[in-house]
Amino acid sequence: MGQWGVHRRMLCLWLSLLGFAFLLLIVVERFHRGKYHSYQKLGTPRHPFQRTPGLPDDLELIGDAALELLPDLVPINSLKEDQLLFVASTQGTKDPLLKKWNYKVLLPATRKELVFGDVGEDAQDEEDTRRSPPDARHPRCLGEQYEDFLPSASVVICFHNEAWESLVRTLHSVLSTTRRSFLLELLLVDDLSTQDHLKTTLSEYVSHLDGVRLVRSAQRLGVAGCRNLGASEASGEVLVFVDPECECHEGWLEPLLERLARDRTRVVSPVVDAIHRQTFEYNVTQWPVWGVFDWNLDFSWEPKPQLLDQDSALAIEPVLSPALGGGVLAIDRHFFHHVGGFDPGILLRGGEQIELSIRVWLCGGSMEVVPCSRVAQPDRRHLPRLPSRFQDREQLERNKIRIAETWMDAYRKIFYRRDTLAHFIRQSEGPNITERLQLKKTLACRDFHWYLTKIRPQLYVPQDRPGLSGELYSVAVGGCVDRVPGQGAPAGAMILAPCSGTGSQHCDLNSDGEVRWGPAGGFCLDAVGERVVLSECQRPVGDRLQWTFIKLSGQLLHRQSQLCMEAVKVGPPQRSPPPNVVRARSGDLILRPCTRHPTQQWHFEQLVSP
Ligand SMILES: *[C@@H]1O[C@H](CO)[C@@H](O)[C@H](O)[C@H]1NC(C)=O
Ligand SMILES: *[C@@H]1O[C@H](CO)[C@@H](O)[C@H](O)[C@H]1NC(C)=O
Repeated sequence: MGQWGVHRRMLCLWLSLLGFAFLLLIVVERFHRGKYHSYQKLGTPRHPFQRTPGLPDDLELIGDAALELLPDLVPINSLKEDQLLFVASTQGTKDPLLKKWNYKVLLPATRKELVFGDVGEDAQDEEDTRRSPPDARHPRCLGEQYEDFLPSASVVICFHNEAWESLVRTLHSVLSTTRRSFLLELLLVDDLSTQDHLKTTLSEYVSHLDGVRLVRSAQRLGVAGCRNLGASEASGEVLVFVDPECECHEGWLEPLLERLARDRTRVVSPVVDAIHRQTFEYNVTQWPVWGVFDWNLDFSWEPKPQLLDQDSALAIEPVLSPALGGGVLAIDRHFFHHVGGFDPGILLRGGEQIELSIRVWLCGGSMEVVPCSRVAQPDRRHLPRLPSRFQDREQLERNKIRIAETWMDAYRKIFYRRDTLAHFIRQSEGPNITERLQLKKTLACRDFHWYLTKIRPQLYVPQDRPGLSGELYSVAVGGCVDRVPGQGAPAGAMILAPCSGTGSQHCDLNSDGEVRWGPAGGFCLDAVGERVVLSECQRPVGDRLQWTFIKLSGQLLHRQSQLCMEAVKVGPPQRSPPPNVVRARSGDLILRPCTRHPTQQWHFEQLVSP
């Protein structure tokens, strides 16, 4: 705090009050709409627009009977950048009444009113009543004492065209849940946003907040580059990367700092609760949980396979995690630079947290999830399914290729067999990973085999034997074996679907007789009655889950029942189907006595041979 001068602090006090009022009014606005927890955009102004003399023609100000300070309103900042923002001037005003001023912020282009209202004494109280998400920490966490000499933290929030509400909410959730003695600074890093509200309005807003700094990038960096930029500007001992949209719970920072204080090579994450994007339902994540990725290099949080007694000391013990999500991540600043930061070759978004996870584990660090620290994040699975732009998808594949080529050694073939788009991109161009390979050498990192055996032994390593892996193609009907869309495993019925050719239908018949399915290979072809379904694989291998492929006839034999998998092929509907008989539909997969009929002929089609 030493670097903030006394004068500056007095000013900042006033300005942060202003900031609080901004937030208060967002909250009040929400309550008045009768919605407890709304992520909706603020609506249109309730008052008619009216011309105000002396304003530029292209700007309008909301007329409000209570607002008698109009002549005093002056633009705070450049109008050129995004034409905005009027605040009542207090210059030359001694009248204390005027100090309790009204102000308005208006975006003329969209006619979206951001904030309005009074700054008063009770702003602080009202602020305290803002909604607080449920506290899901184990009761024992509350009694934890943290040393007073924890390392100082720089929180880095990177954003690109983020909604105002979610950015400001994240910012204030960090500020209101951390002790200033631990939080050295909060860096907002703008990854070349183009939206108006993130320009002058945001600069202005942030300038009112003590300890918050806005850094802008002159080029689009993506999450990895943006976080690196934030890290290079930060001076705290610990870097805490926080995604906009995250909301931090009381006491989330200290448990993370404490883990890092004890071992600077740790990288730690809180437990992330999920908020439904549309219903705002709050889902508490059950402990223990850890972060994993599959052979498609997609990340997910998963319940950790380990039974815990709620009363045991383990309930508040951090667990080692094979990978961590990107939502909130804390890492010692020197270790971060030592281990090579984020890979700047990973562009836009996607894969950066998996790359860091593999690198940290292979190059001398460790990762863990800390149960006494909790944050909330909107659940990405509930995003409305927007068609993602092809360039973005392609960039994601390039990011994954970088990971595979840099870190996965021969195991990368397993990735390419399941991600054929990546395979084809890789065939036409190679990533430039010269520097990353050099780094790998300098740090004397371990190999991926070590990661698979020591850190993630639970991950099934596919065998992908030629002729026994690939899309399972029906010769008679012409489709590939797939899951019913939207139906979750286990016990999901399997059907024939159009062959995707993307590797999403990849099967692997291994030497244990299992037909492993899916990018993590955690599900197996199974049979319930005569239906072919998908179940969780078992160790030791379950009798019901064993199959034999007879290459000569193309039959897939279910060992336990000695029946063959058949694709149902139904002709045109008959005139009078027998009543009360549930007919199998075309494309259903069932078990039948083995015949030489083409509906029982299968072929494992390997799409690519990396
Ligand atoms: C909450 O958890 C339940 C059960 O795990 C799940 O079915 C539901 O989709 C989850 N909701 C959100 C918002 O994640
Ligand atoms: C790869 O990148 C390095 C530095 O990052 C550069 O020196 C080298 O020329 C690049 N190689 C190619 C083939 O572009």
